Amino acid sequence: MIHIRQATSDDLFAMQNCNLMNLPENYVMKYYIYHALSWPQLSYVAEDHKGRIVGYVLAKMDDEPTDASSPPHGHITSLSVMRTWRRLGIAEKLMTQSQNAMVECYNAKYVSLHVRKSNRAALHLYRDTLKFSVSEVETGYYADGEDAYCMKKVLQE
Ligand SMILES: CC(C)(COP(=O)(O)OP(=O)(O)OC[C@H]1O[C@@H](n2cnc3c(N)ncnc32)[C@H](O)[C@@H]1OP(=O)(O)O)[C@@H](O)C(=O)NCCC(=O)NCCS
Repeated sequence: MIHIRQATSDDLFAMQNCNLMNLPENYVMKYYIYHALSWPQLSYVAEDHKGRIVGYVLAKMDDEPTDASSPPHGHITSLSVMRTWRRLGIAEKLMTQSQNAMVECYNAKYVSLHVRKSNRAALHLYRDTLKFSVSEVETGYYADGEDAYCMKKVLQE
């Protein structure tokens, strides 16, 4: 049985571990703490019956608005689910919880994220299940030179 709940500061090392196991984009602990302190409502974890973290979404609000008139919007910094727990709807639930909190707590108008062009599973999740669309291609966005799709989803008009 999997329980989805808001992440707390006690979860940050387990989230970092999950990130290290599943993605090449890794972050120093300071960055996790920054998320937890600044937007504690937006990050969620999935834990198994023994309390082990098997997935997480790390999310934030835009902290570098392009101009004062740009609407508040959320951003998904990182999402991953441990291999043996995939295709059970965990990522979809984590994303939905975070998106709802962006609207309820910060009145977010849309949410954005980056995804590797080659990441088939994540693209299916974002485009087909969660109804994001590609807003632009960022050439050479990743450290290894791969392009990113910048994806967006309107949360409220
Ligand atoms: C991408 C990832 C987070 C998906 O997690 P998940 O919990 O398995 O996803 P869900 O079970 O919620 O999947 C929901 C939908 O996404 C799509 N999807 C998920 N994995 C897929 C795959 N391997 N192939 C095709 N579609 C996939 C499907 O449409 C799926 O719905 P369905 O199972 O009813 O067909 C997971 O594969 C992962 O952690 N990958 C490595 C890290 C990563 O790429 N993170 C995203 C970085 S942008």
